[in-house]
Amino acid sequence: MSGSRGGQDESRNDSMSGFAVGRGEAGSKEASPRPGQAARKWLVLGATGQLGREWVHALEQDGEDVTGLGRRELDITRGDDVRHVLEQLRPDVIVNCAAYTKVDQAEVETDLAEAANIHAAGAVARAAAATGALLVHFSTDYVFPGLEEHRRQYPEGYPESFPPDPVNAYGRTKWLGEQQIRAQNGPHLILRTSWLCGRYGSNFIQTMLRLAAERDRLRVVNDQYGCPSFTGPVVRNTRVLIEQGVRGTMHISSGGVTTWHDFAREIFRLRGLGVVLEAIPTSGYPTPANRPKWSRLDIRQLAGVPGTRILPWQEDLEQFLRELP
Ligand SMILES: NC(=O)c1ccc[n+]([C@@H]2O[C@H](COP(=O)([O-])OP(=O)(O)OC[C@H]3O[C@@H](n4cnc5c(N)ncnc54)[C@H](OP(=O)(O)O)[C@@H]3O)[C@@H](O)[C@H]2O)c1
Repeated sequence: MSGSRGGQDESRNDSMSGFAVGRGEAGSKEASPRPGQAARKWLVLGATGQLGREWVHALEQDGEDVTGLGRRELDITRGDDVRHVLEQLRPDVIVNCAAYTKVDQAEVETDLAEAANIHAAGAVARAAAATGALLVHFSTDYVFPGLEEHRRQYPEGYPESFPPDPVNAYGRTKWLGEQQIRAQNGPHLILRTSWLCGRYGSNFIQTMLRLAAERDRLRVVNDQYGCPSFTGPVVRNTRVLIEQGVRGTMHISSGGVTTWHDFAREIFRLRGLGVVLEAIPTSGYPTPANRPKWSRLDIRQLAGVPGTRILPWQEDLEQFLRELP
C-alpha cells in the first residue's frame, strides 16, 4: 500500500484487497475529530471478552467517551435491541468484539455460531449503517483454507485478496459474517486477526502456563503455522487505522511466523520453565474441528499505514508476559 496516500483528502479504493484509505470516503464519517468538533463516542460490543475488555480499558485510559456492553447488557442476536441501543447511544464508532469463538464447539453448536457470527454481525452492520456509525469488526485467519502448499506459495501469509475457503464451521460463520457486513454498504473496517492473546481472557498462553504448573512434559502440535496477535497492539494499531481513515478489510497480527509448539517453547523460555516439550503432528491431537495448516496473515498493508507499529511476535510476547500478573 506504500505510496497510496495521494493526499489527506483523497480516498483510494483497492479493488484487489478491498480496503480504502483516506478521509473522503462516501458515506463515512471523519476519521478523527477536528478542532472544534465534538469528540468521538465509542460503543464496544462483547465488552467482557478478551479483546472487548482491552478496547474498553484503552479507551477509558485515554479519557474517551466509551460505553462497553457485554452479552448481559446487549445480546447482539436480538436485532431489535441492537437497533434500539444504537438509536439511543448514537455512537460514532462501534467496535464489535462479540462473537461465538469456541472453534470445536461450533461444529455441534453451529446454529449458535451462525446466530452470533453471521446474522447478528449483519444486524449490527445494518443498524450501524442506518445511524452512519463506523463499524469496526473482527474476523479471523480461520477464514482461509490453510493448505500446506500455501505455505510455499504465500510465505508472507495470505493476502487480504485471497479467496476465503474455511475448513471448519467457526471459520465459515466468520467468513459469512464478513459478507453480511460488506453487503450493508455502511462505513466499516474488518480486521482479520490470528492466534489472539490478551491479559483478560483464556488463550493459548494461559493454557500453556496452567499446564506447565500441572505437568513436566507437554505434547504440542508442530505442523500448524501462523502468527500470534496480542490484544494491546491490535487495539493500538486498529486505532491508528481508524485515525487514518482506513476502511475495508485488513489483516492484523504481530510480525513473523511460528508453530504452536515453538510458540509454547518461547513462552516457557521467557518464563524460565523447564517443561519438556514434545513436537507432535496435528494427527496426534485430534480435535472436532479441522484446523488450517497455514494461517499466517500477510500484514504488509497494515505495515504500510503511517503510524502503525508492528513488532516480531517474540517481542510482543515478552512484553505481554512482563505485564501478566
Ligand atoms: N481468540 C482468538 O484466537 C481469535 C483469533 C482470530 C480472531 N478472533 C476474533 O476476535 C474477536 C474477539 O475474540 P476474543 O478472543 O476476544 O473472544 P472472546 O474472549 O470469546 O470474547 C467474545 C465475547 O463475545 C461475547 N458474545 C458471544 N455471543 C454474544 C452475543 N450473542 N451477544 C453479545 N455478546 C456475545 C462473549 O460473551 P460470553 O462470554 O457471554 O459468551 C464474549 O464476551 C472475535 O470476533 C473473534 O472471532 C479471535
